[in-house]
Amino acid sequence: MVWRLQADRKQLPLLLLRLLCLLPTGLPVRSVDFSRSTDNITVRQGDTAVLRCFIDDKSAKVAWLNRSAIIFAGQDKWSLDPRVELDKRSVLEYSLRIQKVDVYDEGPYICSVQTQHHTKTSNVYLIVQVPPKISNISADITVNEGSNVTLVCIANGRPDPIITWRHLNPTARYFEGEEEYLDIQDITREQSGKYECKAANEVAAADVKQVRVTVNYPPIITESKSIEAITGRQANLRCEASAEPKPDFEWYKDDTRINSAQGLEIKSMGNRSTLVVANVTEEHYGNYTCVATNKLGVTNTSLFLYKRVIATKPIPAAERDSSNRFKQKGPGTVIADNGSISLAASIWLMAISLFFCLICKC
Ligand SMILES: *[C@@H]1O[C@H](CO)[C@@H](O)[C@H](O)[C@H]1NC(C)=O
Ligand SMILES: *[C@@H]1O[C@H](CO)[C@@H](O)[C@H](O)[C@H]1NC(C)=O
Ligand SMILES: *[C@@H]1O[C@H](CO)[C@@H](O)[C@H](O)[C@H]1NC(C)=O
Ligand SMILES: *[C@@H]1O[C@H](CO)[C@@H](O)[C@H](O)[C@H]1NC(C)=O
Ligand SMILES: *[C@@H]1O[C@H](CO)[C@@H](O)[C@H](O)[C@H]1NC(C)=O
Ligand SMILES: *[C@@H]1O[C@H](CO)[C@@H](O)[C@H](O)[C@H]1NC(C)=O
Ligand SMILES: *[C@@H]1O[C@H](CO)[C@@H](O)[C@H](O)[C@H]1NC(C)=O
Ligand SMILES: *[C@@H]1O[C@H](CO)[C@@H](O)[C@H](O)[C@H]1NC(C)=O
Ligand SMILES: *[C@@H]1O[C@H](CO)[C@@H](O)[C@H](O)[C@H]1NC(C)=O
Repeated sequence: MVWRLQADRKQLPLLLLRLLCLLPTGLPVRSVDFSRSTDNITVRQGDTAVLRCFIDDKSAKVAWLNRSAIIFAGQDKWSLDPRVELDKRSVLEYSLRIQKVDVYDEGPYICSVQTQHHTKTSNVYLIVQVPPKISNISADITVNEGSNVTLVCIANGRPDPIITWRHLNPTARYFEGEEEYLDIQDITREQSGKYECKAANEVAAADVKQVRVTVNYPPIITESKSIEAITGRQANLRCEASAEPKPDFEWYKDDTRINSAQGLEIKSMGNRSTLVVANVTEEHYGNYTCVATNKLGVTNTSLFLYKRVIATKPIPAAERDSSNRFKQKGPGTVIADNGSISLAASIWLMAISLFFCLICKC
């Protein structure tokens, strides 16, 4: 039979002891006091706890109690819990062993030793520790840019784990002062990626879990370039767009949509699209438009396929590109790119000066 008495919690063990005649009736209440000389025993959940108690007289009356019940009275086991047993390595030891400790075992335990002359109690406070464990974390989510997002991470453990959040990529940013709930207001595309929740206490290694946040945004074209092509050769017009979800591409020549036919082929993959002109002819030159679309928007850019004339003597590319900076060719071109005057030009100028000098003299 397990004793369950309705009484003030602190008084209860005292009452139980009285019932067992382990306490002299005249003893003042103060003499059994949990707060005085309590030893703390810290055990991890699942481990075995041994609550030590020693007696100095074999004939003493002994008992183990917890907050609400007698566990052992002498050699008699009152508790029905199979995990509980006495640990007696000598006749003078009266320790209590609790196997597979769980959180509900936490609390005060009393070893009561009564001899003919006095009653001694030793109080033990059992602390049960539990490693941190994340029990629930938000599922991966996809939101539109500008949304308010709240990520949740619930963790258990004893002591209560400290929860921290981190944005893994691309910023690797830590969030200060956030706990179970991470609020991201007005989310931007840069804030998409994996978020890591870490639950830590001093008991064991931290538990870590991740949640992926995908932020949708409309396309913006990040790369497109007009190119020169040679008649009879292949030409590739490229267009790259940044978007989430990945964009669909369309190509237009002037105002006409291009399909993959008649020597034209559109190759789109991920955030890139290439318009391949297999064999460039006269009518392929001109104005093209690349259109990138996803469910949040559409954008376009124009690019040109220019005709490149193969000169009999090829002009170096560098000279061609900067040709508009040299308005004239020949000896008149004296000012070089860097503003200095070349030696040849200096001689040329000196010759002219000399010529004018001679005229003036005449
Ligand atoms: C036992 O732990 C409590 C808090 O958990 C603490 O206040 C007290 O000082 C500890 N007692 C001893 C003897 O370590
Ligand atoms: C201590 O008391 C509680 C409440 O009655 C009980 O659930 C628990 O099993 C007891 N602990 C031991 C070790 O007997
Ligand atoms: C996890 O949390 C979400 C939101 O708070 C809730 O809907 C869900 O039921 C929870 N799952 C579990 C296993 O607790
Ligand atoms: C996000 O939260 C802010 C501040 O609470 C609020 O002003 C705003 O309207 C919210 N935005 C959305 C899209 O709910
Ligand atoms: C490209 O087209 C021209 C004219 O139609 C043709 O003569 C030439 O053989 C073609 N070249 C290739 C590589 O197909
Ligand atoms: C396009 O995709 C590639 C590979 O997925 C990525 O490395 C690149 O940054 C993306 N470019 C843009 C502009 O999103
Ligand atoms: C190229 O075509 C686009 C779409 O038709 C047009 O908006 C743009 O003005 C054109 N560019 C030129 C230089 O003609
Ligand atoms: C490109 O965008 C402009 C303005 O944003 C629009 O007027 C035009 O119709 C678009 N062109 C195509 C081919 O979608
Ligand atoms: C400037 O140009 C001249 C001739 O083109 C060259 O010799 C000289 O090294 C250049 N100086 C610098 C600083 O680039």
